[in-house]
Amino acid sequence: MTIRAVVKGIGHYLPERIMENAEFEASLDTSDEWIKARSGIERRHIAAEGQTTSDLATRAAQAALADAGLEAGDIDAVILATSTADLTFPAAATIVQANLGMTRGFAFDVQAVCAGFVFALANANGMILSGQAKRVMVIGAETFSRLMDWTDRSTCVLFGDGAGALILEAETGTGTTADRGVLSSDLNSDGRHRDLLYVDGGVSTHTTGHLRMQGREVFRHAVEKLAQTAHNALDKIGLSGEDVTWIVPHQANLRIITATAQRMQVPLERVVITVQDHGNTSAASIPLALSVGKARGQIKQGDLIVTEAIGGGLSWGAVVLRW
Ligand code: UT7
Repeated sequence: MTIRAVVKGIGHYLPERIMENAEFEASLDTSDEWIKARSGIERRHIAAEGQTTSDLATRAAQAALADAGLEAGDIDAVILATSTADLTFPAAATIVQANLGMTRGFAFDVQAVCAGFVFALANANGMILSGQAKRVMVIGAETFSRLMDWTDRSTCVLFGDGAGALILEAETGTGTTADRGVLSSDLNSDGRHRDLLYVDGGVSTHTTGHLRMQGREVFRHAVEKLAQTAHNALDKIGLSGEDVTWIVPHQANLRIITATAQRMQVPLERVVITVQDHGNTSAASIPLALSVGKARGQIKQGDLIVTEAIGGGLSWGAVVLRW
């Protein structure tokens, strides 16, 4: 008997305010054309004053519960991938737990920046397989707008806010790759590259700080490492790019998404792309894309999906699942 962690519901939430590329032209030496051409981004959502990461995460989690036909009391654990928690502690996941009305189970945050959702999904799968939990709410939620240096055109035009959530539930499978649920994962970090993408502040340095990125270098690593990690995750279960129905990539840059799909020999028609509307929402980008992909009618039950992401650390990884 094989236990599988199967997706039972999904949902997302985006803040109301939409910021179009053209808005940056008033204060920065940039243009809609440059942002679109270099990143594929056209607009992003920005959280309202006072709206926190746990607020966005709660809305996404409620949408996932509704989609699954479940109630908060049915959930055993909340794992929230974020680098922009409301407070230094407690974990934003515990705030979400309380907001949902959950009075049992456990909740914690995972911090692997843009790779956070992939790391959280792999962790949730491990907990289900080990019998620690039967139903896990896995959320990616961020308010990266709070980390922007709005005078730095090389970073502030790229990021946005949002949240996505899915519910994994233990089910009995056959042990083959025909099973629904998480089938494999591949996680990596290399802290030698931590200076390529980081926030220049934190509790130990008495500051909040701003996001700093050597974009060109991160781009180089992304193109090289994303296809490799996706390949590794597929290879572990004897599958390849040909078997993939949808790549659901981290949405940082359309050029990275395209190059990765090419390296995986998966046509762009089989890639869920939302970067034009959301920008880079870090750990929220994959669950957002999964939820939007399902709502668009792209993702259907039985599809083989590869999620892959890279971000600060550097940390990167991939999860293969059958929807
Ligand atoms: O989610 C975590 C992972 N993050 C990523 O995956 C991001 C990876 N990096 C990227 O997506 C791309 O490197 C960027 C979109 C950040 C930049 O694109 P690029 O093609 O690598 O451009 P570049 O950094 O090489 O900059 C080209 C030029 C520079 O001018 P010079 O030095 O050639 O004169 C920049 O100063 O574009 C300039 N530039 C801008 N111009 C107009 C940088 N930002 C802007 C801007 N508007 N917003």
